[in-house]
Amino acid sequence: MKKLVAYYSRAGQNHTPNGLQVLEKGNTEVVAEMIAKHIDCDVFKIDLITPYSDDYKECVGQAIADWKGGVRPAIHEFKFDIKDYDVVYLGYPNYCGTMPMPVWTFLESQDLEGMHIRPFCTHEGSGLANSIEDLNKLCPNSIIEEPFDVKGSETNNAENKVVEWLNK
Ligand SMILES: Cc1cc2nc3c(=O)[nH]c(=O)nc-3n(C[C@H](O)[C@H](O)[C@H](O)COP(=O)(O)O)c2cc1C
Repeated sequence: MKKLVAYYSRAGQNHTPNGLQVLEKGNTEVVAEMIAKHIDCDVFKIDLITPYSDDYKECVGQAIADWKGGVRPAIHEFKFDIKDYDVVYLGYPNYCGTMPMPVWTFLESQDLEGMHIRPFCTHEGSGLANSIEDLNKLCPNSIIEEPFDVKGSETNNAENKVVEWLNK
């Protein structure tokens, strides 16, 4: 079983239990690294050509505009061949109750037919929200497995839960 971890995550200003702080590494990236530590996989970070702002408020404005407008923002080229994989661990933060639009760009640019998708999501309270429903719509011919979600501010302590999920 060849595995890929593909995720979107944003460093910069974000909410933490201590208020707005600048994070060196995004929460979803922390989880992606935990996954990559425990399984044999390739890793691809879904990166916007024009990144959302480091400023939290500005980022929210940009992300909402893309979501409301149904925009598929341009992302950097996928450097692997998706056909090589059996399982994709798909990571994203909850943005506006679903996946960030760059993840939609990624999913629509790849043929994931027949592939197993294991979604993992970080959020600030709304959990997976509509993301699994949207994922099913975007990838109707994939096998969407049980997702994992964790509050962004709790990711650093989530390794045991991540491993538990990986072993399911
Ligand atoms: C543009 C934007 C929209 C967000 N929308 C939601 C939301 O609807 N529900 C929620 O629980 N958290 C929301 N959040 C919080 C993020 O999901 C959470 O901070 C996540 O851990 C960020 O992941 P990252 O650090 O990997 O980018 C939002 C954050 C941003 C920046």
